[in-house]
Amino acid sequence: MKTYEEVKKEIADAGQEQLLRWYGDLTEEEKASLLGQIESIDTTYLSAFAARGEETKRGVISPIRAMSIEERSKREDIFREKGVKAIREGRLGLVLLAGGMGTRLGSKDPKGMYDIGKTRHVYIFQRLIENILKNIHTTGAFSHLFIMTSEKNDIATRAFFKENGCFGYPADYVHFFRQEMAPVVDPDGEILLADKGVLATSPNGNGGWFTSLLKAGYGDLMEKEGIDYLNVFAVDNVLQNIGDPVFFGAVLDGGYPCGSKVVRKNSRDEKVGVMCLEDGRPSVIEYFEMTDAMLDEKNEAGLPAYAFGVILNYLFSVPALKKVMDEKMQVHFANKKVAYLDEKGTHVEPAEPNAWKFEYFILDQVHELTSCLPYEVERGKEFAPIKNLTGTDSVESARALCEENGIEL
Ligand code: UTP
Repeated sequence: MKTYEEVKKEIADAGQEQLLRWYGDLTEEEKASLLGQIESIDTTYLSAFAARGEETKRGVISPIRAMSIEERSKREDIFREKGVKAIREGRLGLVLLAGGMGTRLGSKDPKGMYDIGKTRHVYIFQRLIENILKNIHTTGAFSHLFIMTSEKNDIATRAFFKENGCFGYPADYVHFFRQEMAPVVDPDGEILLADKGVLATSPNGNGGWFTSLLKAGYGDLMEKEGIDYLNVFAVDNVLQNIGDPVFFGAVLDGGYPCGSKVVRKNSRDEKVGVMCLEDGRPSVIEYFEMTDAMLDEKNEAGLPAYAFGVILNYLFSVPALKKVMDEKMQVHFANKKVAYLDEKGTHVEPAEPNAWKFEYFILDQVHELTSCLPYEVERGKEFAPIKNLTGTDSVESARALCEENGIEL
């Protein structure tokens, strides 16, 4: 570990002297902790922030061919057979991305602990496990489930799974790992303090999952068990089909390093990221990046050329991800309200966004791979995201969709 003098010099060179402002007030233990936190700052985020404005431009965007429900249903039996066989061989792992802050939902607990039940408890985590178990009734084989948490919600998430007996999933198939944290900066790029001896940090986005999974040591387990594909999914879609053998079979059948479940957009202007090609490689274009020409473009069948939105349910080949994991991922910046300790030593709870958070996005990972199968699913059956309390993509809308699908709440 570096000495105080060494750290002091380094941060002075980096223009981050404020981090040691309260050093003299700290206990010996707090001092050591603060020096350790400073030493482990990943400067990639800070250099990306310093170079903002020079962000890399998007490449040439063109439509990608998706496998529609109709097309897939003709070969569904073959896909199912392939998928079931591979799952029974232990080739599939499941990765639940549950490191987000769920700020829009406004609950202090991890998002998965939210109860959408009306007459009984139906927690979001419980719904996801129920969806996995449904497939296990067909395949008869449990897949290892890796749950990504963050420093902010790890203890609560683990405790909740334990209290609820993992909702019926065998505990030795459930593995938790923490995602990495990124420093939070003010508009000048100075890292904020959460307390005198604590840096302000936030989870580094859902794109850091693979690095965090390997750092947690699960590469060995995957190798031992022969897991060569991972089904990665978001915490908030309570209707999603997880560990879906037909989807897995379709990806294996086409030899794809990646598959992405997609839904047909429900309107020209729906606010959803859409699958496309970028410089010939799979990619996702955000709704606000789409031009009118793109929104109106039609394919040879006369249908919208950019019609399929991503729902954050992907299959990734593990060897393919390992090959690209050293490539530099784009750092995204989000302007947010973050509590901090000001230069007078007062804790401030800002009313307006005051800080910048850094995030990696999973959709950038898709672009690093050579190809991806956009695989259409029925939105009424597989897409009920919970982002807000009411309105679009909310507890209300998800409850209605669950009920339409015969799920008792
Ligand atoms: P969202 O983009 O909806 O973010 O995450 P969020 O943090 O859950 O919610 P808001 O924006 O604060 O309201 C999409 C998925 O990615 C995961 C989330 O848990 C969710 O499954 N995620 C997001 C992470 O695992 N880590 C992150 O750092 C961010």
